[in-house]
Amino acid sequence: MSSPVLDLIREKVSILDVVNSYVKDLRQAGRNYKACCPFHKEKTPSFTVSPDKGIFYCFGCNEGGDIFTFVMKMEGITFYEAAKKLALMAGVEYSGRSRELTQEDKERIELKKILAHAEKFYSSQLFSSAGEKARLYIGERKINKASAENFELGWAPPYGQVLFDELQKKGFQKDIALKAGLIKKSSDGRIRDVFRGRLVFPIKNQSGNTIAFGGRALAPDAMPKYLNSQDSMLFSKRKTLYGLNIAMPEIRRTGRALVLEGYMDVIAAHQHGIGYAVAPLGTALSAQHAAILGRAAKEIILMFDDDAAGIKASVRAAGIFMEEGFFVRIASLEEGLDPDEYLNKYGKQAFEGLLKNAADPLEFRIKQFFKNRTNPSAQDKAQAIGILLQTVMRQQDEIVKSEWIKLLSFRFNVEKDSILRQLEKMTAKQDGKEQNKNKEPEKRKARHDKNKIPPLELDLIQIFMSRPELIQASGEITEKDFSSPLAKKIFTELKNIPENNRKDALLILSEKFPEEASALFELAVSEPEEGKNDAAAAAGAARLLKQASAKRRMSELKNLPEMSPEELQEYTILAMELKTSGSKDL
Ligand code: UTP
Ligand code: MN
Repeated sequence: MSSPVLDLIREKVSILDVVNSYVKDLRQAGRNYKACCPFHKEKTPSFTVSPDKGIFYCFGCNEGGDIFTFVMKMEGITFYEAAKKLALMAGVEYSGRSRELTQEDKERIELKKILAHAEKFYSSQLFSSAGEKARLYIGERKINKASAENFELGWAPPYGQVLFDELQKKGFQKDIALKAGLIKKSSDGRIRDVFRGRLVFPIKNQSGNTIAFGGRALAPDAMPKYLNSQDSMLFSKRKTLYGLNIAMPEIRRTGRALVLEGYMDVIAAHQHGIGYAVAPLGTALSAQHAAILGRAAKEIILMFDDDAAGIKASVRAAGIFMEEGFFVRIASLEEGLDPDEYLNKYGKQAFEGLLKNAADPLEFRIKQFFKNRTNPSAQDKAQAIGILLQTVMRQQDEIVKSEWIKLLSFRFNVEKDSILRQLEKMTAKQDGKEQNKNKEPEKRKARHDKNKIPPLELDLIQIFMSRPELIQASGEITEKDFSSPLAKKIFTELKNIPENNRKDALLILSEKFPEEASALFELAVSEPEEGKNDAAAAAGAARLLKQASAKRRMSELKNLPEMSPEELQEYTILAMELKTSGSKDL
């Protein structure tokens, strides 16, 4: 998208600054910068930023774009919202107009609106006479009024379609309410509210917009105990953490996050002054969750239920966070209590004691092992160390890693060298597996259209993309000289871009051919080196291409069952041209 204001923002805000505020370890590599990609999981950097061009591209997952697309993708927000953010950074006045909104943007905005209305409705129900039972329940759960307001809790009345009636009164269509997951069609075809007779927890994105709801039944034996909104255009469970919008300042300040299991745990933690607590939403922790926290914190404390499932989940989550480069510790609860119950029973100080004593993932697992064993045999030890080394392998910090080897050697009374050798064996095996896994992005890349452009055409297209003004100077190349449809399209379009818009060539192209945008950004960040994109290089590449296209045409003509006189003439001319242009193998 281009407009004077947007161009001004692009000019004032460096893509390096924007990317730097989300991505760690951006390093210079020639004229570009590289880092591990924030959009997919990788260990070696293929995410590339070109400050000259103001664009980014990832060779691993093929995401690419400019500052606006970067912020949109990073935060999951609309173009308009990203532009407002960047305008603020640029110190530029921006009042986006609706014509800059795509259909998808409009739907997202409409969804946010209806969810905000639903939230208001639920909250008004909680504090009206209809919400008395729910207020009593909140009291029983020791949630005070300030917390209820802070987390904007609500009450969904137990009957039919009260919310839907209310939304209709406000002018919302059935369609959008369905998409927002607020209502559903029951088997008899009637519309019903999704949340009925439940205490409602609004789920927010980092900017504090409501994107979904969770609802808890009041009765102790109701099924399901919690009901959560389905994933939608705004809401993905794998990327959302409950309480994050409230916890973010404290997570940033302390550099640490406490990850708990549920809604009630998070609310209790905040109410007791532990401001850096969040929880996933009834799903397992994902690498995306870890990546989101990784932008603000370096240290993670996990505190899950003290049962077999909780232990398994903490070990798994610890692995994910270690791979993301965190220092991880696992805090243990006692007496089968959950964090919410523990806090309400023993208070903040005792709880902070648990956090302080939290063990690192290896200590935690060693303790689990020795809980029900006193004198392990050699084979017991081998088996246990084999399992524990999987935790060691996920540790990214070499110092912690070597300390862990020492710890294993000490606790199991085993030679350190044997443990090291075992670790090397396992790492080699793992690397083999990873290489197989890494074939995946390779495959994806092969689909990529850039690879369908033959090398000769690619050379010329890359020169023209970086310097469209050379098109005129490079002889009689026409779109027919290109065999690849993408190269043809780019060439034709570039030729038609008016002189004073040439600096926006990439932008214009990527908007005109959105389905090729990724290939275009790849071409742009891997543009020819300095000195290989001047007029002489263009003329050389043009000559080679002309020859190739003449040969292609000649073999087409030769393969005809019979040539017309015109075709015969064309063939002769091509042959002569080829000879004079100095090509040998005729
Ligand atoms: P828990 O069963 O540990 O609930 O589930 P809790 O948070 O301690 O809740 P209370 O104290 O009984 O009220 C942990 C989390 O798993 C999800 C919810 O996100 C919950 O907070 N969950 C649980 C569901 O999504 N559905 C369920 O039926 C149960
Ligand atoms: Mn609980």
